[in-house]
Amino acid sequence: MANWTTASKRMLSEVMSAETWLPTEMPEYAQGFMYMLGSLTASSFVVLVLSGILLAMNGPASWSYNGAMRFIAAVHFWGVQAFFFFMMLHLWRVFFTGAWRGGRGLTWLLGAIAFLIAIPTAFTGFLINGDLYSEWNIVQAKDGLNAMGLGWVNLANSGQMFGMHVVVLPLLLTVVIALHITRVRTKSVVPPYPNVKVKSPAEQGGTQP
Ligand code: HEM
Repeated sequence: MANWTTASKRMLSEVMSAETWLPTEMPEYAQGFMYMLGSLTASSFVVLVLSGILLAMNGPASWSYNGAMRFIAAVHFWGVQAFFFFMMLHLWRVFFTGAWRGGRGLTWLLGAIAFLIAIPTAFTGFLINGDLYSEWNIVQAKDGLNAMGLGWVNLANSGQMFGMHVVVLPLLLTVVIALHITRVRTKSVVPPYPNVKVKSPAEQGGTQP
């Protein structure tokens, strides 16, 4: 009978196998651009993490006064635009190809959770800009969070927002994206819907009402 040890052993041997991560064959339907959108989302996330590390290392003053750091801040900003743009297109692709089919429900769920974590990650980033736009957002959103019983999240506390944006949320997002992609590798990409032609009543030999 399967127990925790044998189940974990089976799962780990699948997750850690070179066959899972370095497949030499790919189904034909997965070669189109629409199937690259998830990887483009993941690549944008890598750009975000790398530019974010440079920003955090040099501190908030650096990108206001130093040209090179201003460039890194711009890369971080455009990285976010690319990340959400590709994620939305990827979401449409997985929706219209019914990518939850064939035991891929958990892959779908992990993607949806990544999406839900990405929103506050981006939002806390806007809040620590410190300009009028972020102040307006802080004032508007803090009452909403209070009303939801999340009063411990103090949007006006820039230290808390900095920690959330730089450490807590990106780490969570990294873990969820890693699990999502691991799941895609073990479950593979969903095959297209079968091409079933729906016959009209006339073609079926019936009469029109
Ligand atoms: C952080 C954002 C996300 C990243 C980095 C990401 C990454 C990926 C990658 C690399 C794939 C492989 C196939 C492909 O590239 O199209 C994939 C597949 C998949 N994604 Fe995502 N994804 C994200 C968000 C989402 C969201 C929001 C959903 C849905 C709610 C989702 C659902 C799925 C499903 C069900 C598959 C597997 C089946 C298939 O590819 O046909 N993903 N994802």
